[in-house]
Amino acid sequence: MVDTTDEWIRTRTGIETRYIVEEGQNTSDLGTEAALNALKDANVSPKDVDVIIFATITGDVGFPSTAIFVQKNIEAFNASAFDIQAACTGFLYGMELADALICTGRAKTILLIGGETLSRITDFTDRNTCVLFGDGAGAAVLQPSDDDRGVLATFTKSDGRLYELLKMDGMGTKNPPTSRQYTEKMQYIQMEGRDVFKHAVTCMGDAAELILEKANLTYDDVDLLITHQANIRIIDATAKRIKIPADKVYINVHKYGNTSAASIPIAIDEARKTGRLQSDDVAVLVAFGGGFTWGSAAVRF
Ligand code: ACO
Repeated sequence: MVDTTDEWIRTRTGIETRYIVEEGQNTSDLGTEAALNALKDANVSPKDVDVIIFATITGDVGFPSTAIFVQKNIEAFNASAFDIQAACTGFLYGMELADALICTGRAKTILLIGGETLSRITDFTDRNTCVLFGDGAGAAVLQPSDDDRGVLATFTKSDGRLYELLKMDGMGTKNPPTSRQYTEKMQYIQMEGRDVFKHAVTCMGDAAELILEKANLTYDDVDLLITHQANIRIIDATAKRIKIPADKVYINVHKYGNTSAASIPIAIDEARKTGRLQSDDVAVLVAFGGGFTWGSAAVRF
């Protein structure tokens, strides 16, 4: 489709495979499957969910939210359901909100989902972006804990001055779906890759350091660093910047590509299933994305 090579993609991005939805399959379908798996894993019934938060930039329709479709699919009719949009940092924005709702006693059981079908907003004639993105979803169930496990600290930040560097101009009300939108390819992700790279490394590094300070931890206390899986060079440069040993850094970008808001929950799930993340382990989660948005969390599992 574009002038590229497997070797270029592997060396510049670390990506080897990724998954793309089938026709007729939507973000809510991926989110529903992830949600049901998370509820089963947590032994929680859908009827006990108070809030469903869905982090995505590729919702099924303009409205209602994607969370609403998940609510319908899993029959969680005692819940309120809504989406949040913070690009690749969406899951951590959702975690901060969920933690606040639980800590203030406003909710007891929150289903937090990150899911994307980025293939639907990728221009497969643009080699700068089309080699990077994949589709997927992950989910977590958050509840109050009576021991020292759980969300230890969260941090989120954004800088709207830099939005031009990573954006999709179309599909909203500013540029409705006229022929101009399609001629100018506004329905696709546009990205200044080098600038995004530099900001991602700086912001994720700073966010990781800040969260340790907030949670009163040192790197020795951290069992696993899970960064947003954007690109192997971004992950490596972030780890190097904060001087955390490579064996404490979780990497699966080679399997899934960049799945935006889904990348952190997919990594958490995989790390738990493969034993990289065990009960009582402390993980630092850190992400960066369009907006720009960035954030971090320290979690004892
Ligand atoms: N195949 C072959 N050549 C390519 C491709 C490709 N797929 N894409 C770009 N090139 C070319 C460029 O055209 C350029 O050619 P030129 O020198 O003749 O102009 C050359 O490769 C080098 O381009 P750079 O942009 O300097 O390549 P770089 O080494 O920076 O890698 C990349 C590009 C991978 C996009 C990098 O900048 C990057 O990782 N940026 C971060 C982007 C990202 O991860 N975004 C995701 C969203 S944000 C987030 O999730 C954090």
